[in-house]
Amino acid sequence: MGFIYRSWVKNRGIPHDQFDGRPVIGICNTFSEFTPCNSHFRLLAEQVKMGVLEAGGFPLEFPVMSLGETLLRPTAMLYRNLASMDVEESIRGNPMDGVVLLMGCDKTTPSLLMGASSVDLPTIGVSGGPMLSGWYKGERIGSGTNTWSLSEDLRAGRITKAEFHEAEASMHRSHGSCMTMGTASTMASMVEALGVGLPGNAAYPAVDARRNELARMAGRRAVELVIQDIRLSQILTRAAFENAIRVNAAIGGSTNAVIHLIAIARRIGVKLGLEDWDRFGRDVHTLVNLMPNGKYLMEDFCYAGGLPVVIRELGEQGLLNKRSVTANGKTIWANNKDAQNHNTEVIMPFAKPFKADAGIAVLRGNLCPDGAIIKPSAATPKLMKHIGRAVVFEDIEDFHKRVDDPKLAIDADSVMVLKNCGPKGYPGMAEVGNMPLPAKLLKRGVTDMVRISDARMSGTAYGTVVLHVAPEAAAGGPLALVREGDRIELDVAQRKLHLHVSDAELAKRRAAWKAPAAALTRGYWKLYVDHVNQASDGADLDFLVGKSGSAVPRDNH
Ligand code: FES
Repeated sequence: MGFIYRSWVKNRGIPHDQFDGRPVIGICNTFSEFTPCNSHFRLLAEQVKMGVLEAGGFPLEFPVMSLGETLLRPTAMLYRNLASMDVEESIRGNPMDGVVLLMGCDKTTPSLLMGASSVDLPTIGVSGGPMLSGWYKGERIGSGTNTWSLSEDLRAGRITKAEFHEAEASMHRSHGSCMTMGTASTMASMVEALGVGLPGNAAYPAVDARRNELARMAGRRAVELVIQDIRLSQILTRAAFENAIRVNAAIGGSTNAVIHLIAIARRIGVKLGLEDWDRFGRDVHTLVNLMPNGKYLMEDFCYAGGLPVVIRELGEQGLLNKRSVTANGKTIWANNKDAQNHNTEVIMPFAKPFKADAGIAVLRGNLCPDGAIIKPSAATPKLMKHIGRAVVFEDIEDFHKRVDDPKLAIDADSVMVLKNCGPKGYPGMAEVGNMPLPAKLLKRGVTDMVRISDARMSGTAYGTVVLHVAPEAAAGGPLALVREGDRIELDVAQRKLHLHVSDAELAKRRAAWKAPAAALTRGYWKLYVDHVNQASDGADLDFLVGKSGSAVPRDNH
């Protein structure tokens, strides 16, 4: 029987002595030229292979669906769950003892962690690393963050098209993922904070030699994880998720992490909900002065000492489960307790933070019975307690059609409401929650307004933006019932989001409500819309929650 397995693999010239029962390490690669952030992953995979061989393992690389945030339509998030199925079944069905996950562009990280969690082999994560800083006219420019501000400058007539194009070329000038603290860098930080990756995983730039070294060490370590039989579930514990939530607050991380971590936890079997984000993030200050909240970029973060400094600060404040075991076999505290801060402008000390009490706030109220979130560190302080008149956009097309209409009845105190952009409504839950402000208000110097939707927001975006309203409008949530002119109250300190409309009136509107027609009625889109959970449950497909192990017993390898 072994003949079939060995003979076919020998077709590449593998010597017979390699089939001696040594650990087989799968290298799950998300390389794709359609995913520019992961375009260097062939190189990274070679480093992992060297590490596996050095440690006496047998590396076998395999491709999985790659999710490029910038090119994939309608949104990479639509395919996060599909890619996770590909990852899960590739790991489950092939004879591997352990796996190294190569992740970079932002949805590639959760999809690989979700898929791997459902199999629960010995697993180690390697992120591709951020790009070098963007520089334009002597200023740092960051992925996404300055895309929004430059687009608004162009729309408001403050820069020319030629300048816009020059900035474009100056922004992304090396391999790697977005170099702001957007979703990719947030999730790479989560990989490190959860203990799935090695120390340094979050911040070494993609083109830094230490990134290659990290990949090589991960290859070596993957072999040891198999020998020691340390499975992913021994690392992804409840305590590890609590650490990750606190780290997310301390780095001013992306709101997308809320959905992704809940989805990963539900795969591996850890109970984690929205309330945990409020509870564990609440007393944590943001220490990191990085775009989109601050002014520096991931390269600066790396030179300042990177995530180990943040973890050490949290540990010193009693805000870390110090005994959580990480992929290198040491505790998170042992890994990070001696980290040194080389630039307190970039990583501020807990005693003098960049922003105080800046974890993600979970809102409740009659507009979001299952919750909504806001990132206070990205919001305008004076708008965090606000009552305003709703200006309602029924869907994203309606928004695009009317937002710049000079006749639109809107002022700076209005509350912009966007419906039907949740998981089912805009399949995949697009990152449109940070709606661009109306051009006429931008020209008057308005820089922020309260915006509410069931959508997500790019991790590189900012503003007083209420996101992930659940249940979403397309599922019949109260958001669907908001009408132009209704008054909406936001009070972040009280964690409140309230629609000032009587229950009787809401019941009348509900009786008249009709669900929007589905965008597509076949294929993966249909499967997704029929089965996707709400954002508060991680927006996974309902039948993917949980794990079922490997299909190939170890002694068959
Ligand atoms: Fe790939 Fe931002 S577009 S990480």
